[in-house]
Amino acid sequence: AVTDTVAAVADTTTTTTTATTEVTRDDFPTDFKFGCATSAFQTEGSGTEGGRGPATWDSYIQDDTVAGTEIAVDSYNRYKDDVQLLKNMGVDTYRFSMSWSRILPDGTIDGGINQEGIDFYNNFIDELIANGITPFVTLFHFDLPTALDTKYSGFLSSDIVEDFKAYADLCFKTFGDRVKYWATINEPQVWGQYGFTNTAADANAATDPYKSSHNVILAHATAAKLYKNTYQPTQGGEIGIPMVVEWFEPYQDTPQDTFAAKRAFDFLTGWFLEPLVYGDYPFVMKALVRDGLPEFTDEQKELVKGSYDYIGVNYYTSRYAASVPITSNDVYTSMDQFQHATITVDGSDGEPIGAATPGSSEIYVYPEGLRKALILLKQYSNPKIYITENGYPAARDDTLSVEEASIDDVRIQHIKDHLAAVKDARAAGTDVQGYLMWALMDCLEMGSGYQVRFGLNYTDYLNDLARTPKKSAAWLKDFLASTTTTT
Ligand code: NOJ
Repeated sequence: AVTDTVAAVADTTTTTTTATTEVTRDDFPTDFKFGCATSAFQTEGSGTEGGRGPATWDSYIQDDTVAGTEIAVDSYNRYKDDVQLLKNMGVDTYRFSMSWSRILPDGTIDGGINQEGIDFYNNFIDELIANGITPFVTLFHFDLPTALDTKYSGFLSSDIVEDFKAYADLCFKTFGDRVKYWATINEPQVWGQYGFTNTAADANAATDPYKSSHNVILAHATAAKLYKNTYQPTQGGEIGIPMVVEWFEPYQDTPQDTFAAKRAFDFLTGWFLEPLVYGDYPFVMKALVRDGLPEFTDEQKELVKGSYDYIGVNYYTSRYAASVPITSNDVYTSMDQFQHATITVDGSDGEPIGAATPGSSEIYVYPEGLRKALILLKQYSNPKIYITENGYPAARDDTLSVEEASIDDVRIQHIKDHLAAVKDARAAGTDVQGYLMWALMDCLEMGSGYQVRFGLNYTDYLNDLARTPKKSAAWLKDFLASTTTTT
């Protein structure tokens, strides 16, 4: 049987192991973006305030300390403080997302525009700009308006394409005078394939990930082309899509496992990347999925191809891929099986691919994988790339004082190692133009609620969500300040 397993690894050491060259700010161009990222449902809270309509995440996250999107980390009320955190570190860019149902409570224009939501984002954007920080806005980051989720089962109906287009159009029209960096749909893989919220949409996406993903791609492309054709000529910004990117290392150094690694990449990232770059799905997907894979019409190919100015890379981890032979008797019951690859974190010598993180059993730190993935991405017509997310999860430990928990040397090393990987990939010709760190502050995490700390700034969940810069925030400030080249 073909299985897709992540092997349990006993070693939970918190240190990264990759030795890298030193990096300095001067290793990157002066206009290279250094920033932080978050999303609306993971930070804003105020889920029922300010006229916001319900979204899929509201009822899902339950936590013993803070009640889900009702509060999150209260950025809806503290956005000015958040902007000061950014300013204090000296970063130039903030990637955040707009809550679709805060702008359109039932997801549609016909259902009415929520002026309070528009005002909130206008104020937020203005505050960022007044503090010298460039807004980088994700239109949709997992939090689908519940009304649309119910109507369409997530993205299973192609009708959602027009609703997303109308929402995007409103955002471009309203905020595009000041927002010059747009991301359409965060991690299309997630909405297309898995989802997280145990809603009907997730169940359907899991049963027909190909159809769901097809509509996700069409929704992205429709909004991106609208922007490029109608707004970009006068507003002059950029639009793209942040994708899940992992590196798959061949389990053994054989042609079979090398192909398996490429198949795994094609089924994770190529699935969305190739339509954008070439107008169609990866060859290997067409060959293996056959009738299960929707076909793009000629018109759709035209729409999808070239529907980006940049490709966003959300990179956290790498895995091994081993080949599983294809037999004529294979009965496929899940998408994973189409890959004919077993994905594992342990190599054939039993060693894990990287260092396990204490905060997530899924994330193995392997900066080398970022370098390799970026160099692979160059082959796709050498796109402009922003690292739209990269970050380190530490397990929450309430026995530590704020001061103790803020000493995050592991995170500093993590950033340095990944920046070195970006530097090397740039030297190899990959066009990486920015590095955005997840996350600005500890915030709500999918699947783990408030038990994982990704932030460069500490959030005190036991004391009114107070923020304290961690050692990594101070390191980043020095790194960025020491480097401004003057000639
Ligand atoms: C991916 C997602 O975009 C973000 O929402 C999440 O918190 C981080 N990765 C960390 O898991």
